[in-house]
Amino acid sequence: MNHTTIISEFMEREHVYLDQLWDAFLDEKKNTGKMRALFQTFKEYILWHMKLEDEFLFPWLNNHLGLDAEEGLAALARRDHQGIVKLMELLELASADEDPEKIELESLNLDKILKAHREREREIHYHVCDNFIEPEEWRKILENINALSLNKWPKKD
Ligand SMILES: [Fe+2]
Ligand SMILES: [Fe+2]
Repeated sequence: MNHTTIISEFMEREHVYLDQLWDAFLDEKKNTGKMRALFQTFKEYILWHMKLEDEFLFPWLNNHLGLDAEEGLAALARRDHQGIVKLMELLELASADEDPEKIELESLNLDKILKAHREREREIHYHVCDNFIEPEEWRKILENINALSLNKWPKKD
């Protein structure tokens, strides 16, 4: 067992960046082209972040813990992620309908699940990753996802 915080620090920076994108969207209240563009930026990044978690980091963790993909922390995160994807779809529908009340409602719903989900990953998932995944393995995970990244890893200024 190691005691680095290399993974939780990296993933926390990801969450901080996601929060910035999400807050920029929330600040733009009206259903304008700018709001839709801000949402697309957020959506693209969170899909990327969830891919890193669902296809690389958490399966690797499950492997260490001797669990199937459908069990444990990986399954818990995947369920949350599916909820997030569903709520993003509903928000996009509300935006397409140009319905301000629905946009407000779906934004609040999404905000709640995002906060709860990030909190759980911060409190549980990332710490367990720190404890069970060696820094060398983590470097390999990042290499793997970079190789598959389709040049998608967005720039974080
Ligand atoms: Fe997640
Ligand atoms: Fe996350």
